[in-house]
Amino acid sequence: MSSFQEVSDPACSWMLVLCIRLLLLLRSGWRMTTGNGNPPMAKKASHLMEMLGDVRVDNYYRLRDDSRSNPELLSYLKQENHYTHSIVSDTKKFEDDLYAEIRGRIKEDDVSAPVRRGAYYYYHRTLEGIAAFEVSPNHKLVAYAEDTKGDEIYTIYVIDAHTGALVDNPLVGVIASLEWVTNGDGAFVYITMDQTLRPHQAWLHKLGEEQSSDTCLYHQKDDTFSLDLQASESKKFLSVASESKNTSFNFYLDVSKPEDGLQVLTPRVDGIDTSVSHRGNHFFIKKRTHEFFNSEVIACTLDNTSETTLLLPHRESVKIQDIQLFNNHIVVYEREKGLPKVNIYGLPDAEEPLKSLQGGHTVEFVDPIYSVEPSGSQFTSSILQLDHSSMKTPHSGYDYDMKTGISVLKKIKTVSYITKLVFCIDF
Ligand SMILES: *[C@@H]1O[C@H](CO)[C@@H](O)[C@H](O)[C@H]1NC(C)=O
Ligand SMILES: *[C@@H]1O[C@H](CO)[C@@H](O)[C@H](O)[C@H]1NC(C)=O
Repeated sequence: MSSFQEVSDPACSWMLVLCIRLLLLLRSGWRMTTGNGNPPMAKKASHLMEMLGDVRVDNYYRLRDDSRSNPELLSYLKQENHYTHSIVSDTKKFEDDLYAEIRGRIKEDDVSAPVRRGAYYYYHRTLEGIAAFEVSPNHKLVAYAEDTKGDEIYTIYVIDAHTGALVDNPLVGVIASLEWVTNGDGAFVYITMDQTLRPHQAWLHKLGEEQSSDTCLYHQKDDTFSLDLQASESKKFLSVASESKNTSFNFYLDVSKPEDGLQVLTPRVDGIDTSVSHRGNHFFIKKRTHEFFNSEVIACTLDNTSETTLLLPHRESVKIQDIQLFNNHIVVYEREKGLPKVNIYGLPDAEEPLKSLQGGHTVEFVDPIYSVEPSGSQFTSSILQLDHSSMKTPHSGYDYDMKTGISVLKKIKTVSYITKLVFCIDF
């Protein structure tokens, strides 16, 4: 959602899946204790595994078969499945009904409110398996990352935006993020993973070239870190973040000069966590340390990243979650007393020096308890696009005018829930 991040989808679909699993588990758990027949028992065979001087015993290691072809194991799995079906066979209709009911309440062919980017309006529909989807700076090409197996190892394809024809060699073994560079449509940056599926290398790819001749921009060899790639809202810089459990640091790439490679923006310091964005002559940094655990916001000039200005200090009772930059504004997403707050501050002209943030205002919502997320605003605009929802309000897309403070409802998600009180007498 921030600075260099995209917004993730609402979590309701996985919650539904979790609910249905839980219900089935409860039912089958109850059956197991009263059911008939003997479950198949896997044979135990002790297998010692040693890592970093630690030895552990795995009695079921023999059940591992990465080729999925061992006849003995396949036959055992069939027995397990057979047993499960025999135990839960009388819930089949209930499962189907429940699944149909949940699907029936989801608008599957939903589309988002259109968002303007340059001369075009874009909207999105959910497409199975596709994660990253990036239109080139001149709107002529689309690069997208696709995973058709569900293992989250993606392949990048580039197509012509008008004809849909494939225009480049697919890039394999990548994570679901990529960002275009330069003002033409020549190149983009992507990230690959090592054997343990840790994102570890950032690459620059030129259209028309083989993946094997791409330029490696950075290799994070420390396996406690993984890489992340984001574009600033201004689209002038890319950030490659290297993140561990308690530390994160950033490099930047000037998209008009990709041949310069990555430059250090925030250095690696144990226990310090930074995320970054850009506007005008400055980089903006959200910084969390052991002492300033709720984060502070600082800025530095493009010319000298060690010359910093404090924009928003650390506060004990307010957590700074994220920042989002616009040509004339900075939006600070905070959490206070459990509630998300969206604070807006005007910024001086891009050439002016920055001082601490003053005179901001908070976006107001009618419901006393709510959730709010940013959703795809345009950097050059003064309209902030927000997704708002509460216990009684479905996801609603708002255009909030940061100059006038006026909100306009653009889209409200269709739901067909009925509220009623029911008693469960017996299972
Ligand atoms: C951060 O995590 C590493 C690895 O677990 C640990 O060695 C280090 O002491 C931690 N640093 C801080 C400041 O907590
Ligand atoms: C960058 O800023 C720091 C801190 O103000 C200063 O010590 C350093 O000399 C500056 N570097 C350059 C190249 O101006």
